[in-house]
Amino acid sequence: MSIASQNVLDYPNNNTIFIVWNFKEGMAIKEAFKSLCALVTNLNNSANTRFPNARASVVLGIGFDAWHLLELPTPVPKEFVAFAPIEGAKYTAVSTRGDLHLHIRSDAYSFCIDAASAIADTLKDVASSLDEVHGFRYWDSRSILGFVDGTENPHGADRAYFGIIGDEDPVYKGGSYLFVQKYLHDLQAWKALPVSEQEKVIGRSKSDDIEMPDGVKPSNAHSALANVGDDLKIVRDNMPFGNVSTNEMGTYFIAYASSFITVKKMLTNMFVGVPEGNYDRILDFSTPQTGSLFFVPTFEMLDSFGS
Ligand code: HEM
Repeated sequence: MSIASQNVLDYPNNNTIFIVWNFKEGMAIKEAFKSLCALVTNLNNSANTRFPNARASVVLGIGFDAWHLLELPTPVPKEFVAFAPIEGAKYTAVSTRGDLHLHIRSDAYSFCIDAASAIADTLKDVASSLDEVHGFRYWDSRSILGFVDGTENPHGADRAYFGIIGDEDPVYKGGSYLFVQKYLHDLQAWKALPVSEQEKVIGRSKSDDIEMPDGVKPSNAHSALANVGDDLKIVRDNMPFGNVSTNEMGTYFIAYASSFITVKKMLTNMFVGVPEGNYDRILDFSTPQTGSLFFVPTFEMLDSFGS
């Protein structure tokens, strides 16, 4: 039988809800978790049947501490750890607790809300939500900074190669590492920057999304430091979110990867810099509020956890 991965390779769509749930202390969490595993499978099957064109899916990720609390199988996936902060001289990629991560996508916002509500009904007695972010598609897939986000993502067969664990970890083949960070942007400072300078920060042109040639792209541009080589890629599904009256405008960074080491290398380049001190200039306008690593089991693993 073929391995059925969760929908980690889907493309970003019009609406997304991201929720991090943390277990409350001293609760009997196993029964609720079993129900959740069954519910996630149910919601995906139902979405395929009821809304085949809505590009709707729900992906469940499990944090390192939660994996142990739930007494899930050991040894754990080969690169699964509790995310440790990455400290540069000026900025830090913080680490925050995350027991369960839900990534709910659909072109129809109604689906996202109903799926999130059903999940909340299952979890609310044993867990509390640390963070809930409602992301939206901004124009032609731009981040809230105004630049197209996702262009250099892998496509076709490369998407599975870089997004899903293969034979290197046979027990967890078909699973994926999921890393998330919720960034807030200083949009006032960003908007005060001339477009020609903004383009140097990203390393691409703003209106038509063309990459700057080598020799022109600054070494501290985001796309220079985040590019760690053609053999080391990740699948990014970032979404903008925002509250204009509180000025909390941001990017929910989310990546699925066959190897967490690749994500860590990108983060180290960005925060520590190459050479050390030459950090990613995007960080002068972007501050991570969260940072957590999760493992995304296959549907077969969810079935076994749920029985
Ligand atoms: C502040 C939050 C972030 C924003 C707004 C952002 C935005 C962007 C934009 C606009 C691009 C250029 C277009 C594209 O290829 O997608 C890009 C590229 C990229 N970003 Fe980010 N990004 C953020 C954080 C991160 C983080 C934390 C990582 C890795 C851990 C990352 C990894 C990458 C990679 C690998 C590329 C492609 C580089 C290349 O090969 O040209 N990004 N990002």
